[in-house]
Amino acid sequence: MAELISPMDMEIEDSDQPLKQNKGKNVVVGVPSDGKATPWVEKYRPQSLADVAAHRDIVDTIDRLTSENKLPHLLLYGPPGTGKTSTILAVARKLYGAQFHNMILELNASDDRGIDVVRKQIQDFASTQSFSFGVKASVKLVLLDEADAMTKDAQFALRRVIEKYTKNTRFALICNHVNKVIPALQSRCTRFRFAPLDATHVTERLKYVIEAEGYVFYLFLL
Ligand SMILES: Nc1ncnc2c1ncn2[C@@H]1O[C@H](COP(=O)(O)OP(=O)(O)OP(=O)(O)O)[C@@H](O)[C@H]1O
Ligand SMILES: [Mg+2]
Repeated sequence: MAELISPMDMEIEDSDQPLKQNKGKNVVVGVPSDGKATPWVEKYRPQSLADVAAHRDIVDTIDRLTSENKLPHLLLYGPPGTGKTSTILAVARKLYGAQFHNMILELNASDDRGIDVVRKQIQDFASTQSFSFGVKASVKLVLLDEADAMTKDAQFALRRVIEKYTKNTRFALICNHVNKVIPALQSRCTRFRFAPLDATHVTERLKYVIEAEGYVFYLFLL
């Protein structure tokens, strides 16, 4: 039987010490044999929760809740390039497999996220029944990346939509600045803070990428 989880019961703070904040988007490009250039930031985006470096407590908790079909609404926050988007995309892959794109509505800062989008696009998606075959989970997922860029009106409207469709839809809000998300939304979500990755995890990941690209990894400690 499904168990109710109070959003306020759980807030995991990731305690890794800050090393650096590196958004790293579209910086280094690998050129695979098919000639298509894929930014490494996408090529090496973690595909599964097991691939996410660091944040073990957070990832294990989300993994367990996903496996048990008890996923609450989520609010993932923290500095850029710490794995928030990758984590939630890995959750979606785990929940929906090949039906991934039918079962999630993904909105980010390049989309308009004013009140009209909440009223129309999100509500339309949340209110329709999904009939995707081969999907283990019955709930759909609305992924609101860069939620701190949403207008206040839109956030207040979203609060109602979350309440209304909580039975068949989970909402995952992602942001850098949690204080820009209204308390009414925060309190409806289970919050996870993604701290900057520590030196060990950054080095390990770098080594993995360099070796996967066919280079030899040397570490010089000055
Ligand atoms: N914890 C991590 N483990 C492995 N790779 C990571 C991790 N965090 C970041 N990366 C790498 O950095 C890229 C960007 O990560 P991601 O988009 O998940 O960050 P984010 O926290 O959502 O950042 P932003 O706040 O800028 O949206 C990923 O594609 C991946 O290559
Ligand atoms: Mg992100």
